[in-house]
Amino acid sequence: MLVVSGLTKRFADQTVFADFSFTVPPNGVTVLLGPSGCGKSTLFDVLTGVVPGDGGTISWCGKELTHLGRSAAYMQQKDLLLPWFTLMENALLPARIGGSDLAGARRRAGRLFKRLGLAGFEDFRPSKVSGGMRQRCALVRTLMFDHDLVLLDEPLSALDAITRQSLQSLLLLLQSEFGKSLLMITHDIEEALLLADTLLVVSPMPMQVGEQFVLSQPKPRSVSDPELLRLKEHVWERLQGDMDHG
Ligand SMILES: Nc1ncnc2c1ncn2[C@@H]1O[C@H](COP(=O)(O)OP(=O)(O)OP(=O)(O)O)[C@@H](O)[C@H]1O
Ligand SMILES: [Mg+2]
Repeated sequence: MLVVSGLTKRFADQTVFADFSFTVPPNGVTVLLGPSGCGKSTLFDVLTGVVPGDGGTISWCGKELTHLGRSAAYMQQKDLLLPWFTLMENALLPARIGGSDLAGARRRAGRLFKRLGLAGFEDFRPSKVSGGMRQRCALVRTLMFDHDLVLLDEPLSALDAITRQSLQSLLLLLQSEFGKSLLMITHDIEEALLLADTLLVVSPMPMQVGEQFVLSQPKPRSVSDPELLRLKEHVWERLQGDMDHG
């Protein structure tokens, strides 16, 4: 379980969030939904130590940490693939860094490439494939880290509706297969409702948890589920209201 308490981050005189607190229960999908520019990526950067925070505590599995560092796999919003490496070499970076068995990692990456529709592109460089393919490759690389906590910053944003839908299902499958805790950012309400066990709706800067929902509907879910439709309406009005008053 991840417990974040009183987290604060400022850039010069701008407070991105102050006293931000939330909990990520184990083995589920926690989704952070909020408008563009409200501080979601900055929150992930502070959690993982990409940028320093200005106060607060982060505790993972009962241990207090300055940041999650290597306790979590982090897929950033920008795909950050290394341009001089092929897609497969990029996917194998976690195994190389971790010094684990490369042949085994290559087989595992190969299976993930197939499941994410990247089979046949293993030897291509990132510049020779589409944005959506780079995003899927970054997702493979993130899943190659053997961590129980996975942070995904808008992992499906560069994909078309059809690919996106099939990858949403795949994410759910992988999550239940590997039993990982997923903490995921999206600005797509439907995606949030389809995937989340816990949904945190955050407000514009300084970012706060506006509302929190526990969704117990079994998965896979349908967006036409009447209960989800009602929730969608509610969340939509909340986000609209935040924009109007923000
Ligand atoms: N390195 C930085 N230096 C100064 N300000 C920054 C820096 N990084 C982010 N910010 C500011 O912090 C605020 C929040 O940005 P952030 O990228 O966290 O938003 P976001 O919620 O992820 O937005 P989006 O949904 O568009 O990705 C913005 O006003 C941004 O300008
Ligand atoms: Mg962002």
